[in-house]
Amino acid sequence: MKGGNHSPIGDGCIAILGAGSLGQLWAGYLPAGDVVFVPRHAPPTSQHAEALAYRLQQSDGSTVTIRVPWLPARDIQPSVLLVTTKAGDTLTALENQLPDLPSDTPVVLFQNGMGSQQAVAERWPERPILAASTTEGANRPEPGYTVHAGRGETWVGALTDNASPHLETVVQALRTSGLTIHAEQDIKRRLWDKLVVNAGINAFTAILDCPNGVILTEPFYLDHIDELCDEIVAVLRAEGSNSPTPAAIRQRIETVARGTAGNTSSMRSDRQQERTTEIDFINGYICRRGQALGIEVPVNRMLTDRVKELTR
Ligand SMILES: NC(=O)c1ccc[n+]([C@@H]2O[C@H](COP(=O)([O-])OP(=O)(O)OC[C@H]3O[C@@H](n4cnc5c(N)ncnc54)[C@H](OP(=O)(O)O)[C@@H]3O)[C@@H](O)[C@H]2O)c1
Repeated sequence: MKGGNHSPIGDGCIAILGAGSLGQLWAGYLPAGDVVFVPRHAPPTSQHAEALAYRLQQSDGSTVTIRVPWLPARDIQPSVLLVTTKAGDTLTALENQLPDLPSDTPVVLFQNGMGSQQAVAERWPERPILAASTTEGANRPEPGYTVHAGRGETWVGALTDNASPHLETVVQALRTSGLTIHAEQDIKRRLWDKLVVNAGINAFTAILDCPNGVILTEPFYLDHIDELCDEIVAVLRAEGSNSPTPAAIRQRIETVARGTAGNTSSMRSDRQQERTTEIDFINGYICRRGQALGIEVPVNRMLTDRVKELTR
């Protein structure tokens, strides 16, 4: 144990940074006693803040009470750090915590979209940094109450060179949750696949303030979706990726929108609650890649600007 503090739970635990919906979901499924939350601000002395207690409605409808201790990064030697902050908060959150963690602690980034993962991997190229893409869904309809809204799957893969040797142990650690986890050799491709679907749904639902399925009959969506898919394909091809056709991308977007027709996207929810959205890491990421690659992406730019205006 580091720093002379003795909290046995801190050794070999699974630490979670970002005690929001997704962090509470993971903490609720991982074995009690093996998981801790890392507080944003460490207490000045070794006196730990208490624990975070909340009710978790699991995917089978049953509700359990969860208590997870808060332990400062300086007091733990976790087997893995799961990072479940929003994309825009992640670099700052890690700047605050990583100096206190051993340099060989694997770090798994759960953010949606792209851009934040690359920023972390570029900032700490020598650390084992992994990324996860998950279709699990969690939300917090009221304080102290977290709902596992949809059972999904999670893919984890290495981002930095040092991460590959940790992949299997990280996957095994996450599997102790009972959730479905896969090791993914091409995590960037999987992140792109999810980004493409989010790029075709989230901004439209936020701008139109509607559930996912409703966009499919809205003129604003119908007027822009083909051009949006053309832009995505142009960027993917310029990236050197083996891109599907624009029609295949549109079909993928619409299959997901139909399959989640009654759902509120996280971007619409952020807009409704006047929180910063992750648009910079979805359509905004496509804009940045387009600019770097010399490709015009006016629909992605328009959607990014419109969402930012709504949430300014
Ligand atoms: N929820 C899902 O179902 C789901 C599914 C797939 C992917 N994701 C992705 O997972 C990420 C998290 O989503 P979420 O829904 O869990 O968001 P969320 O509920 O807003 O949780 C984010 C948490 O991070 C905390 N945080 C922010 N800055 C921090 C810092 N510097 N240090 C420590 N903690 C900090 C926030 O605390 P405060 O509230 O105090 O600011 C909040 O508790 C997003 O990128 C999202 O796209 C979520």
